[in-house]
Amino acid sequence: MRLIEDPFEFQRECQRVRAGGGRLGLVPTMGALHQGHLSLVSAARERSDYVALTLFVNPIQFASNEGLSRYPRNLDGDLALCRDHGVDAVFAPAAAAMYLPGDATRVLVSRLSQGLCGASRPDHFAGVCTVVSKLFLLAGSCTAVFGRKDYQQLRIIERMARDLFFPVVVLGAPIVREPSGLALSSRNLRLGPAEREAALGLVRGLSRAQRLHLAGERAVAVLRDAALSSLQSHGLRADYVTLADADDLAEFEETVPQRALLALAAFAGDVRLIDNVVLGEDPALT
Ligand code: PAF
Repeated sequence: MRLIEDPFEFQRECQRVRAGGGRLGLVPTMGALHQGHLSLVSAARERSDYVALTLFVNPIQFASNEGLSRYPRNLDGDLALCRDHGVDAVFAPAAAAMYLPGDATRVLVSRLSQGLCGASRPDHFAGVCTVVSKLFLLAGSCTAVFGRKDYQQLRIIERMARDLFFPVVVLGAPIVREPSGLALSSRNLRLGPAEREAALGLVRGLSRAQRLHLAGERAVAVLRDAALSSLQSHGLRADYVTLADADDLAEFEETVPQRALLALAAFAGDVRLIDNVVLGEDPALT
């Protein structure tokens, strides 16, 4: 497995793979890898001959109060996992290599970035889109895999790839959950035992709303309250609970159709967690 730190060396390596007829798979991550990331590697592996995983805690997608320095990091552990799972190259640049002195360019996907997480994290998706654009430009033609836990991020990146003619197939991979139902996230590493128990309020709220929807309930207020009351009864501080169109993310006000995204974000202590389910599409949550 190659470990590459220099962006242009990474670009050359991706060009070399394609020149040899290989299909490239790209898995962008911020490290602190877990089984969810490894499922992205497997999805990339199924569609490509060479899998490159990127490890970069992107400073510009964190607001100043969002604890960039507290984001979990474990380079040695991540590299060992990548080696064990057949990753061909890891691109792990320093921030100074990705953002050159005088850096002033941002990529913004306007409407899709405004609701859901974008309401409380106004600059977050511009940070994500900027770094993902850089990764796509360095990688070139490839299949890039992102987790559906960051559902809004996935839809935004799909839009960006289409709008900017990136030669990239963007693929969404299913959420991976612990047996308890908790969605895997690098942020779970920051949860103490009580917070971890409280965090189950997210999936339980989604599950409650999913059961209601399956039974025919279509009122936004009822579905939303089912999820919100679960967050509250678990002692979580809700950021948002939103029902939206699963493709264009436009929020529903009164009723939802047969297929709709239910997405939520909540704080367990100071750890912000997100989760979602596509009602009428995703398998039943337990
Ligand atoms: O989902 C993530 O881990 C990050 O937002 C991403 C896509 C790697 C960009 O920094």
